[in-house]
Amino acid sequence: MAKEKAVVTGGAGFIGSHIVDALVKRGDDVHVVDNYAAGRREDRINPKATYHEIDIRDYDSLAPVVAGAMYVFHEAALPRVQFSIEHPLETFSVNVQGTVSVLRAAHQGGVKRLIYAASSSAYGDQEKLPLSEDMSPQPQSPYGLQKYMGELACKLWSEVYGLETVCLRYFNVYGPRFDPDGPYALVMGRFIQQKSQGKPLTIWGDGTHTRDYTNIKDVVRANILALASTKVGKGEAINIGAGNNISVNDLAALIGGPVVHEPERAEPAHTLADIRKARELLGWEPRVVREEGIAEMKVSFGLS
Ligand SMILES: NC(=O)c1ccc[n+]([C@@H]2O[C@H](COP(=O)([O-])OP(=O)(O)OC[C@H]3O[C@@H](n4cnc5c(N)ncnc54)[C@H](O)[C@@H]3O)[C@@H](O)[C@H]2O)c1
Repeated sequence: MAKEKAVVTGGAGFIGSHIVDALVKRGDDVHVVDNYAAGRREDRINPKATYHEIDIRDYDSLAPVVAGAMYVFHEAALPRVQFSIEHPLETFSVNVQGTVSVLRAAHQGGVKRLIYAASSSAYGDQEKLPLSEDMSPQPQSPYGLQKYMGELACKLWSEVYGLETVCLRYFNVYGPRFDPDGPYALVMGRFIQQKSQGKPLTIWGDGTHTRDYTNIKDVVRANILALASTKVGKGEAINIGAGNNISVNDLAALIGGPVVHEPERAEPAHTLADIRKARELLGWEPRVVREEGIAEMKVSFGLS
């Protein structure tokens, strides 16, 4: 079978690099678009993929790379909630304008389907759990709003321009190559970092808030299923979560070691995905058992 061209924006990032590996394994001709805003890491580069150092907002440079691709996986973003609160304009520009640039390049370039990395942060705080796709989004940060606007743009590009799109709403993703650095690292990464430095684990608030942590292997499989499913293509929003949640206190206990508490951040109290739609439209089920996934990640960071 002839190789299919696939483009992964943000393919030098945590999630994108794992998608790149899976596509290379399938035998696809994989092109990565990344401006290395999140830094350069050797372990995120696949020698069998082609890398283009481009900012997704630079349409003229982006368009020729995207042209002729069968699939685009749009992972590029500035993905930190707290950073978006402090830098609303910069994050809007990358997360919204950048997404529109990728959608336009995909449509103009004859791409068959675009799979968008949406986010559970679109939900914000809801009265009921689990979070299901028919709930009205209530973003609580510029990031949540921007990621949701990206979904709306995908839907519009399907309706107005006929580009097939599907939006996968990831719930807190973890696994090897996760970026534990920086003040905006997500809880899991921060814990891993602190544990490796022999420091106590910092819990913001009382630690009773819960998160639905999703293993990277399950996220990658959802993307590969989304590429082929005949039941999607019109901008559907689909939760990709483990479908069970854990409190930050219990997570700290799984990572192990002493904890300290700091003031609460502006983040939703609970996340828990209703994953029925992913089952129905993609035939997807999460497979990784949390304890095993966390143990594997600890090993990848040199922790036991
Ligand atoms: N990690 C999670 O738990 C999670 C949850 C929900 C949604 N998401 C979404 O998944 C996607 C990937 O997240 P991640 O955790 O791998 O983040 P990441 O920061 O590791 O990867 C994002 C990549 O995008 C690149 N990038 C940023 N701005 C760019 C620009 N202007 N042009 C080109 N490339 C640019 C970065 O250099 C980086 O390599 C993001 O769209 C994020 O919003 C992630």
